[in-house]
Amino acid sequence: MHPVICLSPSSPIHFLFYVVLVIFLTSTSISSSYDGGNETDHHALLKIKSMITQDPYGALTSWNTSLHFCDWYGVKCGKRHRRVTGVVLESQGLEGSLSPHVGNLSFLREFYLFNNSFQGAIPHEIGRLKRLNLLSLYLNKFNGVIPTNFSGCVNLKGLDLSGNNSWKHTQRDQLPLRTYFS
Ligand SMILES: *[C@@H]1O[C@H](CO)[C@@H](O)[C@H](O)[C@H]1NC(C)=O
Ligand SMILES: *[C@@H]1O[C@H](CO)[C@@H](O)[C@H](O)[C@H]1NC(C)=O
Ligand SMILES: *[C@@H]1O[C@H](CO)[C@@H](O)[C@H](O)[C@H]1NC(C)=O
Ligand SMILES: *[C@@H]1O[C@H](CO)[C@@H](O)[C@H](O)[C@H]1NC(C)=O
Ligand SMILES: *[C@@H]1O[C@H](CO)[C@@H](O)[C@H](O)[C@H]1NC(C)=O
Ligand SMILES: *[C@@H]1O[C@H](CO)[C@@H](O)[C@H](O)[C@H]1NC(C)=O
Repeated sequence: MHPVICLSPSSPIHFLFYVVLVIFLTSTSISSSYDGGNETDHHALLKIKSMITQDPYGALTSWNTSLHFCDWYGVKCGKRHRRVTGVVLESQGLEGSLSPHVGNLSFLREFYLFNNSFQGAIPHEIGRLKRLNLLSLYLNKFNGVIPTNFSGCVNLKGLDLSGNNSWKHTQRDQLPLRTYFS
């Protein structure tokens, strides 16, 4: 017998089997594309953590494998799709630099890192965040050139780069209208 699935329109049992098979195949393909998304977010968050060298208040202690990343401190996810929509880590005394993997958090809308001690440049990958609404980096030690091409952040409403950061050069035409420097 060659055929694995025999379809006989006259048989309601076969028709029912076919319906169940279609539902099963559809749901597996949905859940596997969903997996791809949440693994990317998971990986990006771990990379961000790996470039933070000081965490004096243990803000990132919960960023471990015993919890889903949506339950990590400072991480907000969409209720339905469970993708990262916010990272809120202000005033945590964090030191280090910002990983370019942030550009893979493709559902990110709010990103608050103000009042920490991040240094180095703002990775240009941030320009891939089309949904980014609010980016607050003030009171850090970022330096380097601004630089960063924000023109891909088409939904950016506010960008706060003021306070202790030291920018060498700015290309205002690549920055959103409401950008604050000190
Ligand atoms: C991704 O989603 C699948 C299906 O809901 C789940 O089993 C898996 O644990 C999730 N992975 C992560 C890292 O959240
Ligand atoms: C993982 O995070 C939980 C919640 O913050 C914490 O209780 C637990 O000690 C952490 N585990 C490790 C190995 O750090
Ligand atoms: C900045 O964060 C520190 C804790 O790291 C806190 O004591 C201080 O009040 C914060 N300052 C502002 C302006 O938020
Ligand atoms: C995420 O971003 C990094 C650096 O920007 C890149 O090398 C990597 O391939 C990206 N994709 C995934 C799925 O991690
Ligand atoms: C900002 O710079 C001032 C003066 O150098 C310093 O007193 C203050 O602690 C710095 N704030 C942060 C958050 O690094
Ligand atoms: C900035 O990014 C946009 C969209 O990603 C791109 O079209 C443009 O060429 C970039 N400009 C520079 C100077 O890199």
